[in-house]
Amino acid sequence: MSAAWMTRAASLVMVSAGLWACSPSDNPAGQTIAEGQSSASEAPSAWSPRVTRLLSEMSVEAKIGQLHQAAGGRSRNLNSRLTPEELDRVREGGVGSYLHVAGAEPLEALQRVAVEESEHGIPLLFAMDVVHGYRTIFPVPIAMAASWDEAGWEEAARISAEEAAASGLHWTFAPMIDISRDPRWGRIVEGGGSDPYLGSRMAVAQVNGYQGADLAAGDTILATAKHFGAYGAPTGGRDYGTADISERSLHEIYLPPFHAATQAGVGSMMTAFNDIASVPSTANGHLIEGVLRDEWGFDGFIVSDWNAIAELMNHGVAETRTDAAALALEAGVDMDMTSAVYVQDLAAAIEADPALLAALDRSVGRLLAWKEALGLFDTPYIYHDTDREAAELLAPDHRVAARRLAERSIVLLKNDNNTLPLAREAGSIAVIGQLAEDASTQLGSWRAQGRPDDVVSLLDGIRHEAGDAMAVSYAAGAAPRSDDMSGLPDAIAAAEAADRVVLVIGEDYDLSGEARSRSDIALPPSQQALAEAIFATGKPVTVVLVSGRPLAIPRVAEEADALLVSWMLGVEAGPALGRILFGDVSPAGRLPVNFPRATGAVPFTYSENPGGRPAHPDLERDTNRYMDQPITPLFPFGHGLAYSQFEYGEMEVRETQTGYRLSVTVRNSGDREADEVVQLYMRDPVARVARPRIELRGFERVTLAPGESVEVAFHLTPAQTAIFQAPGRWQVEAGRIEVMIGASSADIRARGEIQIVEAQTGSAPATALETRVEVIR
Ligand code: BGC
Repeated sequence: MSAAWMTRAASLVMVSAGLWACSPSDNPAGQTIAEGQSSASEAPSAWSPRVTRLLSEMSVEAKIGQLHQAAGGRSRNLNSRLTPEELDRVREGGVGSYLHVAGAEPLEALQRVAVEESEHGIPLLFAMDVVHGYRTIFPVPIAMAASWDEAGWEEAARISAEEAAASGLHWTFAPMIDISRDPRWGRIVEGGGSDPYLGSRMAVAQVNGYQGADLAAGDTILATAKHFGAYGAPTGGRDYGTADISERSLHEIYLPPFHAATQAGVGSMMTAFNDIASVPSTANGHLIEGVLRDEWGFDGFIVSDWNAIAELMNHGVAETRTDAAALALEAGVDMDMTSAVYVQDLAAAIEADPALLAALDRSVGRLLAWKEALGLFDTPYIYHDTDREAAELLAPDHRVAARRLAERSIVLLKNDNNTLPLAREAGSIAVIGQLAEDASTQLGSWRAQGRPDDVVSLLDGIRHEAGDAMAVSYAAGAAPRSDDMSGLPDAIAAAEAADRVVLVIGEDYDLSGEARSRSDIALPPSQQALAEAIFATGKPVTVVLVSGRPLAIPRVAEEADALLVSWMLGVEAGPALGRILFGDVSPAGRLPVNFPRATGAVPFTYSENPGGRPAHPDLERDTNRYMDQPITPLFPFGHGLAYSQFEYGEMEVRETQTGYRLSVTVRNSGDREADEVVQLYMRDPVARVARPRIELRGFERVTLAPGESVEVAFHLTPAQTAIFQAPGRWQVEAGRIEVMIGASSADIRARGEIQIVEAQTGSAPATALETRVEVIR
């Protein structure tokens, strides 16, 4: 957003170190440190003339109405609550925004009530969880992350925005940019995986895609970075639970994508349901006003998560709804998603403490300013063109983009004896596993307006791509959440009758997502039993793993001849998988998170500190490992094979004006075109505090013809080696940094080192900063 009032860099004030989690009881006056400091830069005189005028004309009640977000329906029953009584609430100015609403026509009618029949004529903000597509559903976010394709991420978000905006929406609750290293957590499906650098790039691409260059254009929508700040680190992997993490982890691992999103200009953020070190994020003034606004210069607005303001009472930091209202508003939560605490109880809180009026004005001012930035005051109805809606939703070119990203998201984990690609020749394939025909699962969690009927199932895709020469049979075997194994004999018979088997197993859509945490990330029992039975036939088996999370699948990994992770791929799932299986395109997806060997190994990351007794394979030594399984992940972060091979040359290290240029030559030494994801890692071997044994700092997905070579050069700056010191203070230490380029975190092909000559202090998280990449052909 470019409005002058939002440029507050000059007035940013440092928050003193060590106050990273100032709890309400630490701060009985109820005012956050940063709040007091920042108020001057947000005085009403700084708003646009329209916002200033509205703020001066509106009653306290009308202002509070703007902070209320109501549910227009349930996520699968949109618009269902838009009753005549609800329209009266809009006429009275009691609502600022609706979520779970959709449709150019119904939303125009609703908007007209707000604009033409309410006292101040303030337009409503219409929101939905458009997370990986609106009607054209793209792969689930963890799958998209596996594509390592920044242009693809941006395109998916842009198409989602075009469809959503054509359907009357202004605002999405995406991107979800929670880093998670714990696949028990069901919401790992919604994010970019375990790494803050990869997550930051994905955050930026999606913000750019949703918001575009002009928010008022009518085909762009406001993005929400969520869930601020460490929602992906709940204890035990249980959704909503405490993130009992260090200040360093918070700033070095969980917050960088939010910093990157801020730099990209994201217009809103959502606070997380959980608490970090006992401070619920919805009442964490230090994080919101201190770190996010004052340190980082975030100029968007904050929405709570669903009912989260009322839940401050469950957390045990507010006794009454009035307390909860005051805590959340003071902390900087501008909009109340559905708890109705603001609209019902904030007035009482203000009466008890009139100082809250300034916070109220600040929040209302922000919301009005963003409504203005979306063009809603000047052109409120440009989101309601039904012809545009009809043309945009599921447009053919959107399906092409969805297929392309789905192809790019599939990860080939194993391919013994070149089992894949399958030849399109006379013969037979048995496709086995109920997930192959389960179209609904391919939509994953958060399917917006996606419909199972729009999906080409994996089975249909395989049938279509196999061509006429090949006989394709199908047997369901067993469904993931069923204990009905009566389909097993047919599945075994089908496998035995075929030349080869494509075994589709894993989790269905309802085993990952919100409140879908699992204590055991093994295959569901029915799927394991099905797999064992099919492996026992002795046929060559390609396993296609459908899942929203990494699964612990040691037996499958051992027995399968080839193993693909297809995640949940969206409307074009079938064609994408078919084209990979039959070799029309080579797979090149890479894991955005480790696949562990057992549930007991999680949380787990490739990027741990070495410790004083680093893990050693020799069990006679007492080292940092388990007795009962190897120290390595089953498949490591960054891993993924192609139908070709790549050779790497030596690393060339050059100093530049801004830092270092680290380059390698990569050659496709196989006999077919394929993509390679070239990855840059670093390690700070000696520092003031222990550093991870390896950390991602750059990547580039390149396409190479057979025999073709390319030079890939990464431009690393000293600031990207910085270590967290205190909020807003990042220390670059002088000394040696090891740099590594390779095909995965466990497949380093070229090494070098750089010397940081001078220590320096920066203000940005190291992993939020982008490594520029040059590709020289
Ligand atoms: C989720 C959010 C989502 C909101 C609105 C909540 O339960 O945590 O991610 O945006 O619902 O649907």
